[in-house]
Amino acid sequence: MATMRFIKPDLKWQIDNIACQNEVSLDTAPLSSEPGFLLWQKDIPKPYWELAGQELSQRVRAARAKLGDKVLILGHHYQREDIIQFADLKGDSFKLAKWASEQQDAEYIVFCGVHFMAEAADVLSQPHQKVLLPNMAAGCTMADMADPDDVNDCWQQLSDLGLAGDTMPVTYMNSTASLKALCGRNGGIVCTSSNAGAVLEWSFAQRQRVLFFPDQHLGRNTGVKLGIPLDQMLVWDFDLPLGGHTPEALAAARIILWRGWCSVHMRFSVQQIEATRAKYPGVNVLVHPECKLEVVQAADYNGSTEYIHKMITEAPAGSVWAVGTEINLVSRIARENPDKTVFCLDPVVCPCSTMYRIHPAYLCWVLEELVEGRMHNHLIVEPETAKWAKVALDRMLTVH
Ligand code: 13P
Ligand code: SF4
Repeated sequence: MATMRFIKPDLKWQIDNIACQNEVSLDTAPLSSEPGFLLWQKDIPKPYWELAGQELSQRVRAARAKLGDKVLILGHHYQREDIIQFADLKGDSFKLAKWASEQQDAEYIVFCGVHFMAEAADVLSQPHQKVLLPNMAAGCTMADMADPDDVNDCWQQLSDLGLAGDTMPVTYMNSTASLKALCGRNGGIVCTSSNAGAVLEWSFAQRQRVLFFPDQHLGRNTGVKLGIPLDQMLVWDFDLPLGGHTPEALAAARIILWRGWCSVHMRFSVQQIEATRAKYPGVNVLVHPECKLEVVQAADYNGSTEYIHKMITEAPAGSVWAVGTEINLVSRIARENPDKTVFCLDPVVCPCSTMYRIHPAYLCWVLEELVEGRMHNHLIVEPETAKWAKVALDRMLTVH
């Protein structure tokens, strides 16, 4: 049987809990043997395709040392071990955006995360700094659900109905820079899972309703926390005129939610929580707010990736945690907390397939090329978009 290096092997019940996926290893295989590579950025030179985990780690370490302070590596909590070990700073999407706005010395910010996060770093960093995304195909399926044309069309329809003036556009960080710019231009704001409540309060202090995209679940969960009744939240179906609603219903709505979701977090269910509680009385259930409302309500706690990490790190020894978020983070927390029992709520391992595209071969290639004075995968947000996206991101950084 393959090594289950992401769990504590002495816990029989924990092994039962993950019985469906324990053949899966999160170790790094050469790029050429990754089935997903067909969909990834292919122009990485051939010699990198065959390099395995250990050799890649050594080469990344060597290139990193040669580059010194010229390079800052930022890593999101969902990155695999062979990447996150090289991050100078690791955090949730809010923390990473804040660091990108504050770390003004490094010439290159190598962003180990996904496309929308690297775009935000480019917008918030200084003009002399360059943001590099090791694999340009590292996107986010949720962000892709909010096509800028569809969102602009929605905003236009709300304007035509005379509703845009009292509607605050709020985009979740997981969106393109052009949608952040739409918010910036129209008095709106960006939120992350760590400040969504404060952002909605900020919005309702100014306008009577919110257009929230792309994650309907974060929007709904946050609305419920603020006491907004479910019948005052509508889902805008971008395939239907007026999102599938009457003008009267839209006028009466407090939150108009985009029809988007995260496929990783949709896997978590109330049935999993019930089964876990029945089997392990006293377990703490902690989920990300991208999960469905009923899952968040059935859990004991919910919060951003940083919150999840902090909560378990600070918990008493001996406590038991079932966690509803991406497996690389859950397995890391389990390893970092050997005095606690930490496992994934979902019996089937589910890494975020787009975060996973930051394979160490890409990081190695980008850094070794920088050593040679060649820059690849420089991510640039077009200046007019960047100007307005920054307005919305700066608002986000002040509302927390
Ligand atoms: P955090 O902001 O909590 O890091 O979440 C980002 C994300 O994409 C979760 O799926
Ligand atoms: Fe996007 Fe979901 Fe991956 Fe987060 S976990 S980056 S929302 S696909």
